[in-house]
Amino acid sequence: MTNAVIDCILSRTAAKYYDPAAALSDEQIHELVRIGTTAPTSFHLQNWRFIAVRTPEAKARLSPIAWNQPPITEAAVTFIVVGQLADSSVVPARLAPLVEAGIMPAKMVPEWEIPARGLYQDYPQRQRDEAVRTATFGAAAMIYVARSWGLGSTPMIGFDDVAVHREFGLAKDEVPVLLLSVGPERPGNWAQKPRRPVSEVLHLV
Ligand SMILES: Cc1cc2nc3c(=O)[nH]c(=O)nc-3n(C[C@H](O)[C@H](O)[C@H](O)COP(=O)(O)O)c2cc1C
Repeated sequence: MTNAVIDCILSRTAAKYYDPAAALSDEQIHELVRIGTTAPTSFHLQNWRFIAVRTPEAKARLSPIAWNQPPITEAAVTFIVVGQLADSSVVPARLAPLVEAGIMPAKMVPEWEIPARGLYQDYPQRQRDEAVRTATFGAAAMIYVARSWGLGSTPMIGFDDVAVHREFGLAKDEVPVLLLSVGPERPGNWAQKPRRPVSEVLHLV
């Protein structure tokens, strides 16, 4: 069975070669992030932030602290996908728009905040795990939006996290989870690589 969504997933690859002359408008970047942020997050925390590195000056700041990877200077934009340590105290504010919209009854808010507190408050490792999960879900959604628009993308962990944190003014509770380059490709990118057989990775129980 196939459809447009499956075609989009099956045809995505990690791009290496981008058209260095291509740009995305700030409206396109805004739309990419808007759609990407409909990805799910734990307790609707939305504990993410996206720094769009798209000017030559900003790219020149990022490139040397990201292994001089070519997509940073050549792709239209590279997002620093930032995860924020999970903090249950923001749950009421994050849920307020749902309550206002009549999606969630107000009395349910503590039913989300209290377990979130129990899950994260005294568990720094979990707070960080959630930051990484959240940013990864957001980046994944953006990768497929980009593909659906005919754009290439490259998730990248090849960067100095301490230097990126400092250079781009991340807050104490923020983790630079990954870089994500996005833009029109130029010829030469590989086809999607074969995967491990499903029989090796799927365990039916
Ligand atoms: C978390 C993560 C980190 C990655 N880091 C880099 C990177 O720093 N540089 C790079 O060129 N590709 C990077 N990649 C791309 C992978 O090499 C690529 O996704 C993998 O080889 C599978 O190829 P495909 O995405 O084309 O199917 C990364 C991918 C992921 C998911």
